[in-house]
Amino acid sequence: MITEERPNPLRDPQDRRLPRIAGPCVLVIFGVTGDLSTKKLMPAVYDLANRGLLPPGFALVGFARREWEHQDFAKIVHDAVKEHARTPFREEVWKQLSEGIRFVRGELGDDEAFDRLRRTIADLDEARGTGGNHAFYLSIPPGLFPTVVGQLREHGMADQLPGRWSRVVIEKPFGHDLASARELNQVVSSVFPSSSVFRIDHYLGKETVQNLLALRFANQLFEPVWNNNYVDHVQITMAEDVGIGGRAGYYDGIGAARDVIQNHLLQLLALTAMEEPTSFEARQLRAEKQKVLAAARPPRDLAKHTARGIYGGGWAGGEKVKGYLEEDGIPADSTTETYAAIRVDIDNRRWAGVPFYLRTGKRLARRVTEIALGFKRAPHLPFTETDTEELGYNALVLRIQPDEGVTLRFGAKVPGTQMEIREVNMDFAYGGSFTESSPEAYERLILDVLLGDPPLFPQHEEVELSWQILDPILDYWADLGTRPETYRPGGWGPEEANQMLARDGFSWRRP
Ligand code: BG6
Repeated sequence: MITEERPNPLRDPQDRRLPRIAGPCVLVIFGVTGDLSTKKLMPAVYDLANRGLLPPGFALVGFARREWEHQDFAKIVHDAVKEHARTPFREEVWKQLSEGIRFVRGELGDDEAFDRLRRTIADLDEARGTGGNHAFYLSIPPGLFPTVVGQLREHGMADQLPGRWSRVVIEKPFGHDLASARELNQVVSSVFPSSSVFRIDHYLGKETVQNLLALRFANQLFEPVWNNNYVDHVQITMAEDVGIGGRAGYYDGIGAARDVIQNHLLQLLALTAMEEPTSFEARQLRAEKQKVLAAARPPRDLAKHTARGIYGGGWAGGEKVKGYLEEDGIPADSTTETYAAIRVDIDNRRWAGVPFYLRTGKRLARRVTEIALGFKRAPHLPFTETDTEELGYNALVLRIQPDEGVTLRFGAKVPGTQMEIREVNMDFAYGGSFTESSPEAYERLILDVLLGDPPLFPQHEEVELSWQILDPILDYWADLGTRPETYRPGGWGPEEANQMLARDGFSWRRP
C-alpha cells in the first residue's frame, strides 16, 4: 500500500502557524537621528527581539554625521526603546541586542565613511555569524537615495552573492510626481534587483489593513454586496489631530495629497476595490492591486471633485495652536495644502458609478482612519415617511485606527408603540475579541524585510499608477496658483470639501 508522506508541520517552513523568525543578518539604518528612526524603527527592532523573532546574532548599525562612538549610539537606541517600545523592557533582551549595536560616523558622500561601514559589517559578519546578509534602511530624504545606493554599489555592499542577500528599504515619498518616481526607480533598480527593493508604506503593515483582506475574502457574507449593485459610495478618511510638528522642511511643498493620498489612501482604495487574488503571494496580490489602480482615475471635473485646505491658528483640543503659515520654517506665502479631498472613480464592472471619496488632513477634530462603504437605500420602504425620518444609509465601517474594529450600521425599530426607525451600530472591536495586542506596523514590515517576504511592499508599478491618478490633480492645483481655503483647527476641514460631497448628494461621515 502506498501511503502519502505528509509533511511534518514542525519542519515545514511554509507552515504559517509557526512564528516567522528572521535569520542571521545586519540591519543598517541611514538617518538614525531622525524622528522615524527613534520613534518607530529602533523600538520596532527591540519589540521584535523581545518577541523572540530576531536571531541571537542579529546586528544593528547606525550611520549618521554625529560624533558618536558605538556606546553613544547604543544609548540613543536604549532611550528610544525605553520611551517608545510597545513591549516591556527586559534587561536580558536588551543586553543581547546591544552587543550587536555599532555606529559608523560620516557624510553620505564620503567614500571613507562607506569603507568604514563595509569593514564594520564585515567584522559583524564574522563576530556575530550574520552570514553576509545585509539590509540597508534609507530613512533619509529621497533626494539622497541616489548618493547612498551609489555608495553601496561602489563599496561592494549591493552585490548579490550566492547564498547571501543584500536588500534596500526605502520610505515614501517615492518621488513627487510620476516623472520623478520613474527617475528614482531607475536609480534604485540600476543597483538593486527589484526583488531586493522593499518600499515601505507603513499602512500596509497595520493589522487592521490586513484584516481588510480577511474580512473580504475569508467570509461569504460581504462579497455578494461588495459592488455597485449595493454600494453607492465609499469614503476613505485619514484624519489627524496634530499639525506638522517639526517637519516643516519635509512637508512644505509636499502637502497632504503627496504625503498621504498617493500612498496610504490609494493603497487602502486598492485593497478595498480589488478583485480576489488567487493567493496572497506577492505576485498575485500585486497583480490585483495594479489592475484596480489602472482602472481608477481622477475626477473629470477637477474643480468640482477636489478640495484642499490649510489649517488656520486658534484653539484645538483645549490648546492654543499655530496656523500652518505661522509654523516655524513655513514661508508666509506657502500654498501647500494640509488637507486634501478627492473623488476617484473606478472604471470597471464592479465599481462603475460608485464614487470613492478620499480625504486627509492635519489639525482636524480627532485622529481617525477608516474605510466606510455606504449602501444604497432599500428600493422600497413599506413605512410612512415619518417612520423613517431618522434612517440614514446602511454602512460598513472598517476602523483602521484607533479603536480598531468593524462597525455595521443599519436601521432598527426604536422601542415603543410607534414604528420609528433609527440607525444603530453593530460592533466588532479588536480589544474585545482578541487578547493579543496588535504589533506595530514597523515590527511586521521590518521582520518581512529580514525574511525577504514581499507581499506587503508596493512595487514601482503601483507607485507609478498612483502618481498617474494624482498628477492631474496636483497640476490643476498648481495652475490655480491660489492659496487653499483656511480651515479652523479642531474641525473637519474646509467648506470646499463639504460642497464637493454635497454636489453629489452625499455628506462626509463624522467618525
Ligand atoms: C506618514 C505621514 O506617512 O503617516 C505623516 O508622512 C503622518 O504626515 C503619518 O502623520 C501618520 O501615520 P499613522 O500611522 O500615525 O496614521
